Amino acid sequence: MITDLITKLYQDNNLSKDELVYLLENLDASSRKLLFEYSLKTKLQHYGKKVYMRGLIEFSNYCKQDCLYCGIRVSNKHIHRYRLTFDEILQCCTEGYQLGYRTFVLQSGEDYWYTEEKLVAIVEKIKELFPDAAVTLSIGERDQAVYQRLFEAGADRFLLRHETASRDLYEKLHPTMDFNNRRNSLKLLKEIGYQVGAGFMVGLPHQTSADLAEDLLFLKDLNPDMIGIGPFIPHSETPLGDVIGGTLEDTLVMVALARLMLPSALLPSTTALGTLDDKGREQAILAGANVVMPNLSPTKVRPLYELYENKICTGDEPAHCRGCIEGRINSTGMEVDMGRGDSLQFQHKV
Ligand code: 5AD
Ligand code: FES
Repeated sequence: MITDLITKLYQDNNLSKDELVYLLENLDASSRKLLFEYSLKTKLQHYGKKVYMRGLIEFSNYCKQDCLYCGIRVSNKHIHRYRLTFDEILQCCTEGYQLGYRTFVLQSGEDYWYTEEKLVAIVEKIKELFPDAAVTLSIGERDQAVYQRLFEAGADRFLLRHETASRDLYEKLHPTMDFNNRRNSLKLLKEIGYQVGAGFMVGLPHQTSADLAEDLLFLKDLNPDMIGIGPFIPHSETPLGDVIGGTLEDTLVMVALARLMLPSALLPSTTALGTLDDKGREQAILAGANVVMPNLSPTKVRPLYELYENKICTGDEPAHCRGCIEGRINSTGMEVDMGRGDSLQFQHKV
């Protein structure tokens, strides 16, 4: 019975691949409701009502990779490329700090214009100016030595989604990348001492329930501090422009399952979910998510960081998003926490 499986998952925080596939293929409205009840309960047991805020700074949309789904892939010649300067990045942090943010997420395409030296200088400066803030990098793959030096410069966390645990699907979607290297990078980052975020997209073309079960099992094994899960949303200037993307419902199920498989992980309620549905982020919070990442990028560049189309908040000032998201969190009965919001695993380590 499906409800027995959901109860077992709630109790053991684990299921086999076959059980996960069975669950994914047999959920109906009432069992889904039970799943969300348990995932919310699990979140509350581990993190209480807190939802952590991160300020996201999208500092460059240059990218040397060519992922089939992504709007900023190198082959897309129809977008205007930008890079924020050192001072512009610091200005975003200053504004964010004044709004109360204590985590800055520096995200970009894989842009090697930002050399190791430039990145080290940025991280060091942010940590010098805001020593009580955490710095998260989301800049893609680099050599182990670069990861090491950025950690020594003070970077606390690193987000690198595994994107999909299916080798076959990964290779089809990432013509310029290597499946093993991706996984290895995550292991290296963990070994170096970063709090690591992995994650995947839901609703990729040809993605099966077995692939999604593998995503959960891969995460269970890696045991990351953070897990970003969002729906795939087609972008018209990519080879996948005409395919159907992921649904809100399917993504919420994966968020809930991730919460139950890895109870102490930080789980963002992603902007992509807010793009699919005006109440998508609230629903993810009620399914067990406990992080939001409002945008701190200057409004002039926001529409240009277009991984997918119709992205929300592209015209909104940081202060507006700060208030908007707080209202949304409160509407779910949860509470904003502006602290650094380290993962429970990490808190237990230090
Ligand atoms: N739809 C949804 N998510 C996307 N990403 C990239 N392109 C898309 C898209 N079209 C996600 C990837 C990447 C993260 C920063 O954004 O998972 O790791
Ligand atoms: Fe940006 Fe709501 S979070 S407008």
